[in-house]
Amino acid sequence: MNIHFCCVGTKAEPWVAGLRAELPADNVNDWTPGAPPADYAVVWSPPQQFLDEQPQLKALFNIGAGVDALMKLRLPPQAAVVRLDDAGMSAQMAEYVSHAVIRHFRELDGYEADIRAGKWSYRKPNLRPEFPVGVMGLGVLGARVARSLAQFDFPVKGWSRSPKSLDGVQCFSGDAGLQDFLAATRVLICLVPLTPETENILNRQTLSLLRPGGYVINVARGAHLVDEDLIGLIDSGHLAGAMLDVFRTEPLPAGHPFWKHPKITITPHTSARTLREETIVQIAGKIRAVESGTPITSLAGVVDPKKGY
Ligand code: NAP
Ligand code: GLV
Repeated sequence: MNIHFCCVGTKAEPWVAGLRAELPADNVNDWTPGAPPADYAVVWSPPQQFLDEQPQLKALFNIGAGVDALMKLRLPPQAAVVRLDDAGMSAQMAEYVSHAVIRHFRELDGYEADIRAGKWSYRKPNLRPEFPVGVMGLGVLGARVARSLAQFDFPVKGWSRSPKSLDGVQCFSGDAGLQDFLAATRVLICLVPLTPETENILNRQTLSLLRPGGYVINVARGAHLVDEDLIGLIDSGHLAGAMLDVFRTEPLPAGHPFWKHPKITITPHTSARTLREETIVQIAGKIRAVESGTPITSLAGVVDPKKGY
C-alpha cells in the first residue's frame, strides 16, 4: 500500500516514522510533487496540486477534527474524507471549556486583579440557575463538553442539527430550535463545524438572544463569529465578555481589537491539539480495517460531503 503524508505546516519526519512503525508492510512517504500514485493520504490543508496529482486516492485522512479547509478544495470524487474522531481531543476540549466557564462564573479574573492591587475583597457568589450554559454542536467534542459541564451542576443546554438525547442536557435541534436554545443560554460555547450553514452564526442577531450578561466561548472556527458584532454587544453591555481560541485570520493580525479588549480573553488555537501518537494509531487502524474488508463508509469520522462535516 502506498500512503502519502501531505500536511502543510507540520513537521513530516516524526509522522512518517510513526506511520511506518504502525504500518510496517506499507510504503509511507512525505509527498513531493510528481510522486507516484498512492492509495491513501494523511493530510492537513494540502495544496490543490497534491489532490490534482493523486486522483486515484481511496481516502484522505485529515489530522484534525475540522475539515472546512479541505472541503473548499477540489477533491478526487471517489475519495472518502475521514476526519479525526476524538483521538484525545475531547478531554482537552472539556478541560479548556470547563476552565473558561468556571473562570468566568467564579470571577477569577476579577479576583486576580484585586489581589494584584493588594485588595482582599469578596464578590457576591454567582448562582448556577442564573448561569445556564449552551453548547452549539453535540458531536464528539460538544457532547463531551456538555457532559463535563453538567457534572459541575450547571444547567446545560445543547443544540445540534438532528435531535439528540443526552443525560443532564436539555437538547434543542435544527433551525427551528435555535432561537429557544439561545434564549435559554447565558454562556454560549460554539462547537459546530464550519459549513456554509454555520458561517457567521455568532452574529448581532443571534448573540442578542442570549440572556443578559451573556458570555461567548468560541472554540470551533473564527469564521463562525462576526467580530465587530461581538465587540459591539460587549461594549453596549449586553454581553459580559468572551473567550476565543479561533480567529478568521490566524495568527490573529497585530492591531486586531481582540488582542487588547479588556473583556476578551484569547488563546492561539490551542484548545484541543492534535496528539500525534493517538492520531497515528487511529489512522493506521482505519487503514488496516479497510484493507481487511471494512467498508470505508462505515469508519467513524467519515465526512458526508453533502453536510460538509
Ligand atoms: P462533530 O462530531 O462532527 O460534531 C458536530 C456537531 O455540530 C454535531 O452535533 C452536528 O449535529 C452539529 N451541527 C453541524 N451543523 C449544524 C447545523 N447546521 N445546525 C446545528 N447543528 C449542527 O465535530 P467535532 O469533532 O465535535 O468537532 C467540532 C468542531 O470543533 C470541528 O469541526 C472544528 O471546527 C472544531 N475544533 C476546534 C479545535 C480547536 O483546537 N479549537 C479542535 C478540534 C476541533 P448532528 O449531530 O445532528 O450531525
Ligand atoms: C483543530 O482545529 C481541528 O479541527 O482539529
